[in-house]
Amino acid sequence: MEQIVQRGNKAVFVDGENIVKVFNDTKPVSDVFNEALNLARVNEAGISTPEPVSVARVDGSWALTTTYVPGRTLAELMAEDPDQLDRYLAMFVDFQIDIHSHRAPLLQHQKDKYARMIASLTDVLDATTRYELEMRLDGMPNEVSVCHGDFNPTNVIVGDDGKLYACDWAHATQGSGAAGAAISYLLFEIDDHEMARRYLDLYCKKSDTPKQVVRNWMSIVAAAELSRRREESAKDFLLRWIDVVDYQ
Ligand SMILES: Nc1ncnc2c1ncn2[C@@H]1O[C@H](COP(=O)(O)OP(=O)(O)OP(=O)(O)O)[C@@H](O)[C@H]1O
Ligand SMILES: [Mg+2]
Repeated sequence: MEQIVQRGNKAVFVDGENIVKVFNDTKPVSDVFNEALNLARVNEAGISTPEPVSVARVDGSWALTTTYVPGRTLAELMAEDPDQLDRYLAMFVDFQIDIHSHRAPLLQHQKDKYARMIASLTDVLDATTRYELEMRLDGMPNEVSVCHGDFNPTNVIVGDDGKLYACDWAHATQGSGAAGAAISYLLFEIDDHEMARRYLDLYCKKSDTPKQVVRNWMSIVAAAELSRRREESAKDFLLRWIDVVDYQ
């Protein structure tokens, strides 16, 4: 098997017609089944994704196997061909809006997931800040759009067949598309402010979403991201987005 990615708690291999994502033993097995179930649900909802193949033990580690999509990621294409950035960004945004137009009623609810993630931040956020974030989250509307939850150009494959495919559904929920856009904005903002600005302009324009609505989600999604990324660099960045100082 040819290895294409190695990081943290996983490695990704190409095995003939399939891709095998092998997790190390720190990964709870329920997370692996959850990613597979999310993938199955959004695939059945009609979203363009690799096809689920199996969840199985491979040499003692849990592995998720999906079909291999021959092509390049949008991240690779953007890096290689900066002249075409506008076109790639438009493809990215159109695909995200298409994903949000689908429904998967059994997918976990975004507000429930974020509430759990905020509640888990006891070691980095004090009770006052967590309460403020919980109140903000409570006030957000209940929506049912499929949200990828980690929608960035490394998770979008431009297939050799010309179609787009979204991979990596570990963080998928049903909820607000604007929250999904807030996550994508933050992920761009981590290393490219100008790109983040262009992304948000385009998303809001194409989806006819007010920027204020996306901004209203920023502190909440920054807290949710903080609960799963504990690198020091990301931590300082995300804490700056959790701008609840006024309430302390
Ligand atoms: N079905 C597929 N076909 C082709 N390439 C794929 C496929 N699935 C994943 N890849 C490639 O492997 C890379 C890593 O896969 P994936 O995004 O699922 O894992 P990850 O980013 O490590 O996971 P996470 O974001 O949950 O930590 C992708 O960016 C893409 O380049
Ligand atoms: Mg990924």
